[in-house]
Amino acid sequence: MPQDQPTAIHRQDYRPPDYRIETVDLEFDLEPSATRVKARLAITAAYDGGAVRPLVLHGDALELMSVALDGRVLGAGDYALTDKSLTIAKPPATFTLDIETRINPAANTQLSGLYVSNNVFCTQCEAEGFRRITYFLDRPDVMAVYRTTIRADRAQYPVLLSNGNLVEQRDIEGGRHMAVWHDPFPKPSYLFALVAGDLACNEDHFTTRSGRDVTLRIFVEHGKVERTGYAMDCLKRSMRWDEERFGLEYDLDLFNIVAVSDFNMGAMENKSLNVFNDRYILADPQTATDADYAGIETVVSHEYFHNWTGDRITCRDWFQLSLKEGLTVFRDHEFSSDQRSRPVTRIQNVRALRARQFPEDGGPLAHPVRPDSYIEINNFYTATIYEKGAELIGMMQTVLGRDGFRKGMDLYVQRHDGQAVTCDDFAAAMADANGVDLGQFKLWYSQAGTPELTIEGKYDARDGSYALSVAQRCPPTPGQPDKQPMHIPLAVGLLDAQGRDIRLQLDGEDTSAATPGRVLAVTAPQQTFRFRNVPEPRALSVNRGFSAPVNITLKQSGAERAFLMGHDSDPVARWEAGQQFATDLMLKRVDEIQRHAVSAYDPAFAEAIGQILRDDGLEKAFAAEAIALPGADYLAERMAVVDVEAIHAAREALRVTIAQALRRDLGRIFDANTSGAPFSPDAESAGRRALRNAVLSYQAALAADDPGVAPHLLDLYRAADNMTDRMAALRLLVDVAGSERQAALDDFYERYRDDPLVVDKWLSLQAVSALPDTLDRVKALLGHPAFAMEKPNKVRALIGAFTASNPLRYHAADGSGYAFHAERTLALDPINPQVAARLLAPLGRWQRFDAARQAKMKAELQRILAAPKLSPDVYEIASKSLA
Ligand code: TRP
Ligand code: ZN
Repeated sequence: MPQDQPTAIHRQDYRPPDYRIETVDLEFDLEPSATRVKARLAITAAYDGGAVRPLVLHGDALELMSVALDGRVLGAGDYALTDKSLTIAKPPATFTLDIETRINPAANTQLSGLYVSNNVFCTQCEAEGFRRITYFLDRPDVMAVYRTTIRADRAQYPVLLSNGNLVEQRDIEGGRHMAVWHDPFPKPSYLFALVAGDLACNEDHFTTRSGRDVTLRIFVEHGKVERTGYAMDCLKRSMRWDEERFGLEYDLDLFNIVAVSDFNMGAMENKSLNVFNDRYILADPQTATDADYAGIETVVSHEYFHNWTGDRITCRDWFQLSLKEGLTVFRDHEFSSDQRSRPVTRIQNVRALRARQFPEDGGPLAHPVRPDSYIEINNFYTATIYEKGAELIGMMQTVLGRDGFRKGMDLYVQRHDGQAVTCDDFAAAMADANGVDLGQFKLWYSQAGTPELTIEGKYDARDGSYALSVAQRCPPTPGQPDKQPMHIPLAVGLLDAQGRDIRLQLDGEDTSAATPGRVLAVTAPQQTFRFRNVPEPRALSVNRGFSAPVNITLKQSGAERAFLMGHDSDPVARWEAGQQFATDLMLKRVDEIQRHAVSAYDPAFAEAIGQILRDDGLEKAFAAEAIALPGADYLAERMAVVDVEAIHAAREALRVTIAQALRRDLGRIFDANTSGAPFSPDAESAGRRALRNAVLSYQAALAADDPGVAPHLLDLYRAADNMTDRMAALRLLVDVAGSERQAALDDFYERYRDDPLVVDKWLSLQAVSALPDTLDRVKALLGHPAFAMEKPNKVRALIGAFTASNPLRYHAADGSGYAFHAERTLALDPINPQVAARLLAPLGRWQRFDAARQAKMKAELQRILAAPKLSPDVYEIASKSLA
């Protein structure tokens, strides 16, 4: 056990700050291992009446050089210093505090605060990194106007950036230069940013709809500027879209983006100075896949959209994190839906939600979208806060309609611009703008867990009525044994024998209210919706558009599912019918494998896949999704006790069955979608490649019996003229033992060894291989020059890919995967606790496995907890995982 266990912070304990900081004047003298920071803070007491309250400033890893109050230097007896705070017992009501600190950015491997990445100084202050720069009231409800002076060596750091407008830049003595920045918008400390380095720049312009000319700059390391074109295009499209969809315009004359190679997450929305992980900026056809391009579009837009939902209107406290993150993810999903195919974007978001958020919501780390307590806030940048938070906003839009939602957004901005507010404030703006009561709906903020709906439909031919009964239940989660019924917007439809939508008229409504499909308000534990004047239905379609993030139990035959796969007018439900059909089949096979009584797969599924392949009217990106089987993770979620080997075997067998049954169709579609046209990242071309490579994945399933497959994959690998196709072939080849595999991996490394982002792909591919010696190879790669524990991208690419994306080998029966995970966690924790903690989740899923694996997983968690010095980050995840 760690010497002193970190304590939890509770939402109910929130109190407004005792002091306000109106302005912050910062001066940085940058040196990699000894940077001096002078901070001048204009402070005012904010409490009313009573005894003088102490001023307690946060600090972390700071060396205090001096502190002066209203110009008078304070002696050691005038303040109290701990390793986490600086306290002044009785300050006046209004005063100026001058603080000088010294920090060591070069030694900052946590990448929080001011650090150096490839000789570039950069900051990461969210959530609590500013206190690693100077002593401060480092909480989001303290908003100040910042002026920042940066001094640094001119040759090594020609580019000096901070938030807001450049006030002046000039040379000073000693080969140094300086720049002064001023940000007119009050902001919390977590949005402060500074960058200094030798960077190249792509400059462009954007004219806002009110005529403001905004200079756009993307800074990257030299030699990379040619790869910033797509990100710039995404930025301009985001700016236009936010004006058109939400009436929100950019508010300064300059918008800067800087991409760095070492970064804890994807990117950061600092006011007018977004800082990015390289991987969400840099792209060209030779080095980025279609998925990489899509990721760039998502993250560039996300950070830009934060300018209103996050920066202009921020969070009162960190329990409100989803106020900005859920809303901004919703906005970037909407943007991608408008720029690409809406159904395909939705399908991909649902896949991600099920792969990452549902397991979190069903495990020991489950928490509400608005949590009630935390130990380390960095652990709460979760799929629940982001993705479930976005679902919650999407449901509001479904309930209020697009126009109603827009009215609510307008009111939210009008009421709260310039403020630090709560999730309740957001919901109140939505409710007030529409004159509705969202009381029950708000349970989505406070109740954790994925609701389960049990649905049954009954047709009565005598009176032409259809009764749809819906029962809801939300499973218990940590600290929440009992749940109240939620308001779940459930979109449904009924298909007739021709596959057309039947018009739905609820009991008590007149005929004119009938619509083809409707959104039902599920609000009670058990409800029956009755429809009138219904002709004989052929199939029921539920949760269209994935209108609510819930699990559904609905008994349907393979024939019904196949019918929906072929006819549902809602593409998301059409895709889902195929997913559920495949899931039914594979889970049945898993059971048969366990009982040693395997029967043949129902040919109706392959036939339904064949029909999708032969349907020329379908969007190709949609067809690619519709023929792709649910992942092993999803199947695991659906089992009482996970059996990774049986899941793998069942999934492989279904791939083989389909490949054999549809050999000719697959070959034809592959050829038809292999074009000689030059690469273009647009959605339609990407869809063509997605379909081609989904087909290839079936063809490759025959590798075990067909010695021609591996050489064919190697040929495709070599012939590829873009990274999407090259990676697709290599991903399949890494599962096939033999000389072709090694030849391709060696070739890949030699080709791209100087390109860190592509080398990340090389590491990941080897880590996700299904081959039995994968862990040994991963361990060997830890010593490869391409790997470094100090670089989050490398850690995620190798260790993260193995622990989170290779269930078959991670859950090896001998526990070797778990032991490796614990050992790496302990090695990484002293270097970068944020990243170490984020990677730990898979070990906490022990409840889902058999007794032998449970024991091994728990033992590793205990080993982690027994370490002498553990960060609060890892302590929180490991201890909650065992609870
Ligand atoms: N707020 C950032 C976003 O959503 C993400 C973020 C939070 C982050 N904490 C961070 C990024 C720490 C880097 C490091 O875009
Ligand atoms: Zn965000």
